[in-house]
Amino acid sequence: MVSSTLTTNHAIMKKQSILFYLAVLIISSCGTVKQNTQTEYSETHRPQFHFSPKANWMNDPNGMVYLNGTYHLFFQYYPDSTVWGPMHWGHATSKDLMHWDEQAIALYPDSLGWIFSGSAVYDEKNTSGLGKDGKAPLVAMFTHHDSKLEKQGRKDYQNQSLAYSLDEGKTWTKYAENPVLKNPGIIDFRDPKVRWNEQVGKWILTLATKDRITFYSSPDLKNWNKESEFGETFGAHGGVWECPDLFPMPLDGKTAWVLLVSINPGGPNKGSATQYFVGDFDGKTFKPYNTETKYVDWGADNYAGVTWSNTGDRRIFLGWMSNWQYANVVPTEKWRSAMTIPRELSLKMVDNVAYLTSEPVKELTKIISETATMPTALVKGSLDLSEKIQAFNGQYQLKFDSDQLTNYSIVLSNDLGEELVLGYDKQANQYYIDRSKAGKRDFEIGFGVKHIAPRISKDAKTNVTLIVDVASVEWFADNGLNVMTDIVFPNKTLDKISIKSADGLTLKNISYSKIDGIWKYDR
Ligand code: FRU
Repeated sequence: MVSSTLTTNHAIMKKQSILFYLAVLIISSCGTVKQNTQTEYSETHRPQFHFSPKANWMNDPNGMVYLNGTYHLFFQYYPDSTVWGPMHWGHATSKDLMHWDEQAIALYPDSLGWIFSGSAVYDEKNTSGLGKDGKAPLVAMFTHHDSKLEKQGRKDYQNQSLAYSLDEGKTWTKYAENPVLKNPGIIDFRDPKVRWNEQVGKWILTLATKDRITFYSSPDLKNWNKESEFGETFGAHGGVWECPDLFPMPLDGKTAWVLLVSINPGGPNKGSATQYFVGDFDGKTFKPYNTETKYVDWGADNYAGVTWSNTGDRRIFLGWMSNWQYANVVPTEKWRSAMTIPRELSLKMVDNVAYLTSEPVKELTKIISETATMPTALVKGSLDLSEKIQAFNGQYQLKFDSDQLTNYSIVLSNDLGEELVLGYDKQANQYYIDRSKAGKRDFEIGFGVKHIAPRISKDAKTNVTLIVDVASVEWFADNGLNVMTDIVFPNKTLDKISIKSADGLTLKNISYSKIDGIWKYDR
């Protein structure tokens, strides 16, 4: 993300939006116009079961923490425009990871700067001392981005700060002695992800520091000690490292540590992507098991994803469903961007190498209202499943297994002739998504292209879970070893679907389910 040009644009837009808001204020006081943030969630391209803000700009998920039955999702938010600008933390809550209630803005920019990405933890033992009257605080750690210092050409304009909440995330107070971790002179010094480490009895901070990750430790979230660096010579380096996460996961009876690192640009299909490393972490140093560069998702639209904190053994991941290559110009009018479906992460060995798998969280079944099944079907030529999918209004999950893997494609289309093609190319051993004919694409030259992903599984069998919303497709193959997420802007709902295979492919356990919209749900 390049902030300087956006800052200039912002100054112009800010003036325009002040005039606009004055007009709205005058007219609405006469009782004729609704507030700009009201929505029926029915605009063209509005996702029906993925979180998107009511209005205006959103990017990274931030501060994701679970507490007393509520999942909190904060997010990079600019409430004055549909393009990136001075960052706030927006806030939404959910009881089930599916239905979201947008809340008041949690953090506003202040004299130390804009509020960039970060994390939140439940400080149960009140190590920070920010709790009060026996009430443990939620503590958020975020990057203060000082655009004035940036314009002066200084290097130290990103610093880490704290805010805390004593009412379960409803209201937040910035810590009086911010920043708590000062910039040592590194231009990209941001996106703190904090986690309690039992082994060393301290908080561990994983911070993106330009082309590497720096780990810090602290007894109280306020005083930080540098422990080590990782990554200068590992992974992809076609862009800046951002939005890391570090967490333990079971692997073959042991504990392995997963380090997520988003990179922009330099992703495998251009622009933004999230790579990961699996290895050991002893509370000080991260050592990867191998040097292969791996990606959480090979599609173009899953960026800055991290996991919820305070969820016990579950690792629930959420990403921003866009790409800095075109995020500011996608053809939506009132708001910009949505999040992925929340995903459950696990580790799996393939030929002695540990890989991350992602699958939609089981809570997705809560918004599935109807399922049709077919025990088996032979695809020789084309199998048309459109009838049901049309009845599901193009919002659905499709699943199937196959004992063999050969060339196939899944074609999502509409009666305008627009089509999105997903498939497997046996000769190249690659999965792909081709959105070159899938609707609007002229807003960015690199948007309407084909994305590819080398197949990771070595299994002769395969399985597919496909999740289709109004403006996105999320494709989980081989139990989530290969994932591809792409956004798409068809001019009419892609409510037809056929599976094609010239070679002949026998499908088993085919099911297609209607996914209900989340916005009008009565909760
Ligand atoms: C990633 C990112 C973060 C930064 C935020 C600013 O998308 O560039 O590194 O904190 O967005 O909005």
